[in-house]
Parts: sequence; structure tokens; C-alpha cells
Amino acid sequence: MNILLLGSGGREHALAWKISQSPLVDRLFIAPGNAGTALVGTNINVAASDFEAIRQIALENNIDMVVVGPEEPLVNGIYDYFQADPDLKSIPFIGPSRDGARLEGSKDFAKAFMLRNGIPTARYLSVTQKTLEHGVRFLKTLQPPYVLKADGLAAGKGVLIINSLPDAITNLTNMLGGSFGKASETVVIEEFLSGIECSVFVLTDGSTYKILPVAKDYKRIGDGDTGPNTGGMGAISPVSFADSAFMKKVEQRIVNPTIAGLKKEGITYKGFIFFGLISVVGEPMVIEYNCRMGDPETEAVMLRIKSDIVPLLEATARGTLDRCTLEIDNRYAATVMLVSGGYPGDYAKGKTITGLDRAGESIVFHAGTANANGETVTSGGRVIAVSSRGATKDAALKLSYAAAEKINFEGKYYRKDIGFDLK
Ligand code: AMP
Ligand code: GLY
Repeated sequence: MNILLLGSGGREHALAWKISQSPLVDRLFIAPGNAGTALVGTNINVAASDFEAIRQIALENNIDMVVVGPEEPLVNGIYDYFQADPDLKSIPFIGPSRDGARLEGSKDFAKAFMLRNGIPTARYLSVTQKTLEHGVRFLKTLQPPYVLKADGLAAGKGVLIINSLPDAITNLTNMLGGSFGKASETVVIEEFLSGIECSVFVLTDGSTYKILPVAKDYKRIGDGDTGPNTGGMGAISPVSFADSAFMKKVEQRIVNPTIAGLKKEGITYKGFIFFGLISVVGEPMVIEYNCRMGDPETEAVMLRIKSDIVPLLEATARGTLDRCTLEIDNRYAATVMLVSGGYPGDYAKGKTITGLDRAGESIVFHAGTANANGETVTSGGRVIAVSSRGATKDAALKLSYAAAEKINFEGKYYRKDIGFDLK
């Protein structure tokens, strides 16, 4: 079969790497892809957000399945676009409907969904310009720090955690006044939860589901979780505190009611759900939903899936996931992200990357890379996700760090303490 994967990051290289190992695949296309996806498939230089062009690609290449990596096309309704087109609607499609993608595309929707379905999450109030006064009153009932979230997509920057009440009120006012554009016309004010976070991924066909390996990502730029937030600087799977007792609670209180709630509410969802969880003294609560896999978690998670992923994806689209088994590798996976100097602020692009063939047993997933004049060059803030397996967390990390030293580009930076807070 021919598969079309949409996206261009490390997550997509990891998905493409896994999909390309399936004997069921004839051709794998990635739109737009990066220099890494070009090693396991054929890149087509079309943006994942250009639905018309994606339609052309799907028809011209006899595509038998579409897999969507990033959230944006999903939130913008690419699933519904395929369903509305007589030539495309029969193509198995991995990704939720526009309604389903609201779990990520609207934090207000996600919170109300959790409330309706009894799913544990932080206390909240959604406010608009008109109800600003209610928002201020609600803030006064909370203890610092204060959590303010732009309702809509804001490129991962829409969550503010603020220490003082006056600053929280000023920021709330600014957000509602348009500091995040349309995304902050509605703002979710939340109670702050203290605990340790992890990422739980589920593949669902809308009725049943498979829980994929759990991972933890490291979002801050600096060692010891310091400095500004990034897209993610590394990941570890499995996660020591997400043991079987914890995961049983996650499944009963969070995963099951989420899938049942989507079904009950008539929301079509065949794809990945990312549960951003926090363990509050051992009790799991939902921080956020995403309608896709995580990045860089996918670069660790894919290393731990032993089963061929293509039959699982096919069953997801067909609604027969209950007939599949998912085999997991018990070893650890550790991902270390090499980023451009200056990231997550301004950084240079086009720097030559060397040593990509010196990574030994590690798997080098490309994130922000491109091919230029016969060389692989940097083309983004997050550049390379080095991933390795090992019998222990430290064994996996040791391999990734050894490879991280051998791969070079001007300005290369990476965190030296991925996994520091896990056993
Ligand atoms: P996001 O950009 O949606 O991934 O959220 C950014 C981060 O904000 C999360 O990963 C958490 O670390 C933090 N966060 C969001 N909501 C809360 C909350 N209610 N309590 C504590 N931390 C939170
Ligand atoms: N690593 C977090 C995310 O993909 O949103």
C-alpha cells in the first residue's frame, strides 16, 4: 500500500521510520518532510496545511492511507475535507474530525468536555472580554501561581504561569484584549496543580483503544528544568512513576471516559490522543489533551513499539482495533534533542550538520533539517533528536549522549540532564 504522512518534524521522521519498516508498505510519501524523512520515503514539497495540494498528491499517488502528524491541519478540518470529497472519502485516514481536534484546538471545549465526562482536571473558569470581572473574582479565589491559557492554538506559547495576583489580572486583561490574537478571545483560568508530568498516548478507532508506551518530555531549555519553554528538549520512556497502579487509574478515570465521552457525544475520532497528565500525589489529572502524538516523545515511543504499526493504523481507520495486539519492547528509550544556538529565541539556519553517520547504535531522527547543495543543514530550532534503547534508563541515555557529541553543527546545544527526575 501507499501511505501519505503529513508533517515535517522529528515526530514525523520517527513515524516515517516506523511505518517504512512494514512489509505492507509499497511507497511512503511525506509532505513536506525533512532531510531525515527523505531517507525512508519520498518527500513532496507541499505544506500540510494546503488541503488542495494534499488532495492532488493523494490522487496522483494512489494513496491508500493518510496519517497526520501535526495538530494544525486537524484543527482546521482536514479529516472533514477528505470526508466531503467523493474521491477521497474512502481513503483510510488517521486523525480526528474537526470536532475531535477541538480537544486540542479549544482549551475551553476540552475543559467543558472533561467536566461533562467526570475526568479529573484542575478547577477552572473560561472568560471573555464581557466576563472579565468574573475572571478577576475567580482569580481572587485561587492561590498563586495563577495559570492563564489562551483558548485557541498559540504555537505552544499560549499558557502563562504567573506568580502575583496583580500580574495575573494585567495578563488576563491583555490576553482578552488580543495579546494572542483570536486565540485569546477566550481565556481559561485554572487552578495550579503541583506534581510531576507525563505523556500518555492512545491510538483509538473511536470505540476501543491501545495505550502506547508512556513517556516524559523535558520542555525547558536549561538543565534542571530552568529557562524558557521549548517544543521539548528530550524524552524518556518508560516513566518510573507511571507504574501499573498509576496506569490503572489513568485508564479507568481518564482514558476510558474520554473515549466513551467522544462516542456518546457523536464525535468522530480515529487517531492518536495525547493525554498531558500530572501526578498529584499519585493521582493522575489531565493538564491538556492534544489531538496528535507528542514531539519529542514520539522519537522515544516508536523505539518501544515492536509490532508492525501499519496494521494497527489500518485497524484504527476501519474500526477493528480490538482485533489487534500491540507488542511493547521492555527496554528504555531515551531521546536527546540537539537544538540551534539561541533557540527558543532567534537562531541561525543553514548550518552544515556533520557526523550523522557516526551515531553507532543510536537512531538519528531529523527535526529541523534540510538538504542543500549535497549537504544536510539546519533549518529549525530543534534540529536532531538522537534516540537510543538500553536495558536501563542510564544505558539508553549514555548511547544518546555519546552520539550527541559526535553530531556537530555551529551553535549546537543540548540538555545534559534528560531523565534527571526519574528513577
Ligand atoms: P502547554 O503549552 O499547553 O503544553 O502547557 C504548558 C505547561 O504548563 C504544561 O506542560 C504544564 O507544565 C503547565 N501547566 C499547564 N496547566 C497547568 C496547571 N493547571 N497547573 C500546573 N501547571 C500547568
Ligand atoms: N512534547 C509536547 C508536545 O508535543 O506538545
